[in-house]
Amino acid sequence: MECSDPKEFSKLMTRAGLGLDDAAIQLGVSTRTVRRYMNGQVKRVDPLKIEKLREIADVRSFASPSSSFRFIDLFAGIGGMRLPFEAIGGRCVFTSEWNRFSRETYSANFPEPPESDHHFVGDIRPFAEDPKRVPDHDVLLAGFPCQPFSIAGVSKKNALGRPHGFLCTAQGTLFHDIAKIIEFHRPLAFLLENVKNLERHDRGHTFATIMGVLRRELGYNVSTAVIDSSPWVPQKRERIFIVGFREHANFDFGKLPLPSGPAPTLRSILESEVDPKYTLSEHLWNYLQGYKEKHRQAGNGFGYSLFSLDDVARTLSARYHKDGSEILIDQDGRRPRRLTPRECARLMGFDEPRGTAFKIPVSDTQAYRQFGNAVVVPVVHAVAQIMKPCIAELLRMRGREVPPSMRQEDLFYPEWASARLQRPLIPQDRSEESRFAQSRQH
Ligand SMILES: C[S@@+](CC[C@H](N)C(=O)[O-])C[C@H]1O[C@@H](n2cnc3c(N)ncnc32)[C@H](O)[C@@H]1O
Repeated sequence: MECSDPKEFSKLMTRAGLGLDDAAIQLGVSTRTVRRYMNGQVKRVDPLKIEKLREIADVRSFASPSSSFRFIDLFAGIGGMRLPFEAIGGRCVFTSEWNRFSRETYSANFPEPPESDHHFVGDIRPFAEDPKRVPDHDVLLAGFPCQPFSIAGVSKKNALGRPHGFLCTAQGTLFHDIAKIIEFHRPLAFLLENVKNLERHDRGHTFATIMGVLRRELGYNVSTAVIDSSPWVPQKRERIFIVGFREHANFDFGKLPLPSGPAPTLRSILESEVDPKYTLSEHLWNYLQGYKEKHRQAGNGFGYSLFSLDDVARTLSARYHKDGSEILIDQDGRRPRRLTPRECARLMGFDEPRGTAFKIPVSDTQAYRQFGNAVVVPVVHAVAQIMKPCIAELLRMRGREVPPSMRQEDLFYPEWASARLQRPLIPQDRSEESRFAQSRQH
């Protein structure tokens, strides 16, 4: 089989959603050779390479019957969004994460077989600029960094009567990159996650802009909820979840399955034997006590927080590696200690309370950063559970096969979610957009 037309090769590359580097790896040739194939600088492309490329393209093609829905994992960190969406029957076809240590942890936990068509890329921005390089998908996941962005210029454009779409309003932000991928691929659904404060950033304008883009400009049905993780894990961590469906879907955050039983406390996740290196040094402990006392005298409550077995921790942050001060574990008469990385994996729901399954191949410092940046897995799992029937329905409407895991009506909980408390989450489906849009006009 000859491939004299470079367009044919390029077309297959697009259908397969492969970048040059990925294609080189998949086809077992150099990146330079792939480029030469694409530019038509080679008269005849090895038929085996064409065959292989066609196979990949077929598997990836949206139209081809698939055993599960396809999702992409953007700003993937260590895969906190991927785990639950795989659990409900999805197949990850594309991951973007640029931090090399996070990539290491991700790869250790989501190894791909050599024949896999999954792409693992770094910086998402070049892909957002040329979104056809992102493979087709049904669901887009993104726990994007809360990067402040300015909407300055919008009011000026308004004043000048110039039109401005999302290409202008959100220009230069990572949200803009997500929006461009959504605009091109029009996935059936998306799930975005961010810090609770996103709603208040820039007096609500940032959130209003995001909602305006998702609802008005991209035309999705969007619901939002702030969810606290403490019914699932012994940690208070409030995050905003933004769910969008391209078409009408019977999605309702009010149906979020909350665990029953008493809320877990730190007792459930702490290790019994802990290396003494996690106990604070005398110097650091003295410093933290002095710092807290200084602020107490000044009338504010800054400083370390000490927790016992029956407590629920504060939010684990990415700076935990610095001094551990936000969550110190009381050690009865001894200086307190930090959580170990394994305990952080459990606190974030990557591991079950006594589990050790999640691989942590990086240094403690990197591990603390990664868990502090991550989502709480069982919370995303609960959201995925209520998205599942809506995704299944939309797949069915398209004549797509619905995998058995998505047909099960019963809600699956990880084993360890057996004993939990019913706690109020704060579901909201607010029309911030119009509220802030109004306030902007005044
Ligand atoms: C808030 S964290 C998301 C964590 C993830 N949800 C998890 O559970 O581990 C955001 C991630 O986006 C990554 N990131 C930031 N800018 C990026 C970019 N331009 N391209 C790819 N990844 C990026 C960061 O390295 C970080 O790991």
